[in-house]
Amino acid sequence: MRPGLFVTFEGPEGAGKSTQLARLAQRLAETGRPPVTTREPGGTPLGMRVREVLLDPALTIDPLPEFLLYSASRAQLVRDVIRPALATGQVVLCDRYADSSLAYQGSGRGLDPAFLAALTGEVTGSLQPDLTILLDLDPALGLARAASRGQPDRLERADLTFHRRVRHGFLDLAAQEPERFLVLDAARDPDSLAADIWRAVQERLRAQIG
Ligand code: TYD
Repeated sequence: MRPGLFVTFEGPEGAGKSTQLARLAQRLAETGRPPVTTREPGGTPLGMRVREVLLDPALTIDPLPEFLLYSASRAQLVRDVIRPALATGQVVLCDRYADSSLAYQGSGRGLDPAFLAALTGEVTGSLQPDLTILLDLDPALGLARAASRGQPDRLERADLTFHRRVRHGFLDLAAQEPERFLVLDAARDPDSLAADIWRAVQERLRAQIG
């Protein structure tokens, strides 16, 4: 049986991840390989409940419980959705994954990256994406885009300096693992971004065939 492929989309707020994920899903479906698409936090009944808590602007949540809640959603998602799909040779597209915790709760909130990495290893059984698309964007632009979509959620309400640290956190992660990451300027035209993403995914799929 052919192996699965695990692709994640990362980036700051308003970078267009969901749009590009949907376009990639459509492309894959057209070529006879409809993917499993999911997102974090969410993707399972537990994850959806946890998501409501995490994004609720009425709540104050400390960095550690915040990270643990994202991890709870992630643990269930890996176990119930991502691993079973990969085990049956499917392509899985996930809107955010563990890199978001390293960038938001690590670089953004200041939690110890070694602690985050260790717990995330337990949570995911060390499952790493085969490819991570980082849609990089100046957070001032991204937050403005996100604001035009409606009321800001709890994370979108955090100040600009927090979101700048998050952006740099993502760029640092990408620099540490250049093989896994494809970094793209999210301010570019969506059609050309979709073309670059499609090329990278095709390369990974071809490499599997050998
Ligand atoms: P969402 O509406 O999915 O945002 P976006 O459209 O930008 O992906 O909300 C998820 C929010 O949670 C987003 O602000 C990023 C944040 N987040 C973390 O802080 N840590 C994490 O581990 C994950 C997965 C998300």
